[in-house]
Amino acid sequence: MKKTALITGIRGQDGGYLAKMLLEKGYEVYGADRRSGETGFWRLKELAIYEDVKIVYMDLLELTNVMKIIEKVKPDEVYNLAAQSFVQASFDQPLLTSDINSLGVLRLLESLRVIQPDAKFYQASTSEMFGKVEHSPQTEATPFHPRSPYGVSKLFGHWITVNYRESYGMFCCSGLLFNHESPLRGLEFVTRKISYSVGRILYGLQNKVVLGNVDAKRDWGYAPEYVEAMHLMLQQSNPDDYLIATGESHSIREFAELAFKTAGYQIEWKGDGVNTTGIDRKTGKVLIAVNKEFYRPAEVDALIGRAEKSSKTLGWKPKITFAELAALMVEADIKRVETEISTRK
Ligand code: NAP
Ligand code: GDD
Repeated sequence: MKKTALITGIRGQDGGYLAKMLLEKGYEVYGADRRSGETGFWRLKELAIYEDVKIVYMDLLELTNVMKIIEKVKPDEVYNLAAQSFVQASFDQPLLTSDINSLGVLRLLESLRVIQPDAKFYQASTSEMFGKVEHSPQTEATPFHPRSPYGVSKLFGHWITVNYRESYGMFCCSGLLFNHESPLRGLEFVTRKISYSVGRILYGLQNKVVLGNVDAKRDWGYAPEYVEAMHLMLQQSNPDDYLIATGESHSIREFAELAFKTAGYQIEWKGDGVNTTGIDRKTGKVLIAVNKEFYRPAEVDALIGRAEKSSKTLGWKPKITFAELAALMVEADIKRVETEISTRK
């Protein structure tokens, strides 16, 4: 029989890729949207699945709304991807972030417990919970030390998911996913900010990209591979928590070098901290500058994950390399910029 999945955060990067994958597997896919305007469906349109996903309106801030949707959809699997997911913004809106990312998870779990307790539940947890890391590489056993209201709010989401599994025997899994990127990544995140800027710089639409802390390091993977892991977690005999990462850590500097290289630029670095600049070796022009505005009150300096349990139990392994990821994002953005230019003419 056809399985029914409910995906919250359907307009987001992961929502799009997960919906596409589940549709390909024959699922009936409901996408929960909080009504933020028609243009926000660009990812589903780019993936050519906008007509296939059944959109339902649900805001994680509104309990009765969540209950009504669970009652209507009666999902077999629920993927809770909705979140205020931008770390920087969580310092400006800590209460809203917590309401969505912490209590929002609880609203969903309570609704499921009362209405559809047999549904399998995936919670989008994050490597940000490791924060000021206690050891490297991080595993499922590494203690948490979040460094932002976002990280703290996600920690509640993680533990309440574990708690509903332990208290009520519900099939609840928490995925500790490290950074995953793609051409569908939001422009506020550093990789996509860089890849889109490279496309614009190449066509003379902007002079440089202005960044924050370019020395931070992340374990960066490819988003379509990470949504496969979410699905795999819910297909196991028993619910559990899994860490998903590539096992490699790279700085923002490294990502920027590779991104610019894809468009034919060779970056030469000068200075450090806020005085860092990235210069085009051929022309001497400044292509990368740094501004304190993009620094965070507390930073996660370096993340690197060890996904051994996921590899052994789920059979999950990353495929796309860091260099391939940077290249494919820039290539996609160059095409987008070319389309923008040609439709403007
Ligand atoms: P994203 O692109 O920011 O998508 C998040 C979605 O959540 C958006 O579509 C947003 O809707 C929706 N949302 C926000 N507040 C909501 C509310 N009150 N009610 C209902 N929906 C709401 O995030 P992503 O990169 O796809 O990530 C998916 C999930 O994984 C997030 O929970 C994120 O925190 C987590 N995560 C991401 C990564 C990563 O590297 N991408 C790593 C670890 C964990 P609008 O479109 O209306 O704004
Ligand atoms: N966004 C942004 N913009 N980040 C910058 C910039 C800039 O101009 N310059 C430097 N950075 C640094 C940030 O300080 C951070 O150390 C790193 O680049 C990555 O920032 P983001 O791309 O915003 O991602 P993130 O790691 O903070 O959070 C993402 O990954 C988490 C998983 O670890 C988000 O997707 C979270 O939702 C996710 O949980």
